[in-house]
Amino acid sequence: WTTFSMNSDSHNAPRGPARMLPADASSLDEAARVILAGGLVAVPTETVYGLAADATNGAAIASIYTAKGRPSFNPLICHVADLAMAESLAEFSPLARALAARFWPGPLTLVLPRKSSCPVHELATAGLPSIAVRQPQHIATLEIISRVGRPLAAPSANPSEQLSPTTAAHVAAGLGDRIDLIIDDGTCRAGLESTIIAPGEEGAVMLRAGSLARSEIELLTGPLRSPDASKGIVAPGMLRRHYAPRARLRLGATAPESGEAFLGFGAPPRGVSPSLNLSIRGDLAEAATNLFAMLRTLDESHDSIAVAPIPETGLGEALNDRLRRGAAHSRENGL
Ligand code: TXA
Ligand code: MG
Repeated sequence: WTTFSMNSDSHNAPRGPARMLPADASSLDEAARVILAGGLVAVPTETVYGLAADATNGAAIASIYTAKGRPSFNPLICHVADLAMAESLAEFSPLARALAARFWPGPLTLVLPRKSSCPVHELATAGLPSIAVRQPQHIATLEIISRVGRPLAAPSANPSEQLSPTTAAHVAAGLGDRIDLIIDDGTCRAGLESTIIAPGEEGAVMLRAGSLARSEIELLTGPLRSPDASKGIVAPGMLRRHYAPRARLRLGATAPESGEAFLGFGAPPRGVSPSLNLSIRGDLAEAATNLFAMLRTLDESHDSIAVAPIPETGLGEALNDRLRRGAAHSRENGL
């Protein structure tokens, strides 16, 4: 008498380290082959590395959730090669089309009504009537999507709740024994995830602050609203604890306490020498690029990391959002 598992989990069993390939033409062909066969490939984007699978293949999507340890009620972003592919998945209002025309390819994700003919598997959208779509600004990954000829579902390529990866080495450290292939194209330019917008009839809602600053989007949408929890349009990535290092984070710190690492921003106060500095010039874009990698580095050597105050302007909104969620596991921060 033998019991068989309903799902063959050979795909998620430890299988030795993933292959890592540079972003050249033959690797992109190989990435497309692996994805079409239902495998998982970590791909670079301008924001963070994504863990990509064929969005129309339910088994492949299931293996994304398993590899990340991600709750399957948290839907995935579908990455498209162009606007035409996006329009085959979602209903575009005039405002949605204007946002795509202005910001794609780029770090803007649009949450739109799902078309009835949308071929994306329901597991990728967690059964919601909406779908999140984005055209990434990364040549290698756009090439992979074109070669596959289908949208790619891709969450950030990290174990659920942990720091997002901005290098191929980060991906290998977190998921290396659970995925098939990593395409290495160096450090992600922006370093923070895309901004997620739901353009609706009564104005647009910002579901997640990200690499595209609020002020740029508001030029097209007018003032962005906050998600109304009572209406259920909440990006589950707004989960309180997320983007978290192992270490405790203490935010808005002007100097480290004993035993703490100090992550600086801008010129440090007299007599304080930061362990690392997000941007000595106080440049928010530079800080965004550095945030996750520096938190990883300090996390290796410290149980507690004090972080200098970061202004809430421009990209500071997304930086502070990630830091607050990363801090949420320590009760003292009371978020
Ligand atoms: O920059 C990025 O957006 C990266 C790269 C790889 O593209 N991806 C990324 O994916 O950050 P992920 O899965 O870590 O975050 C996707 C977010 C989640 O917060 C999820 O809840 C939200 O998008 N989301 C997806 N579909 C949604 C939907 N239909 N309605 C509301 N939120 C949705
Ligand atoms: Mg993520």
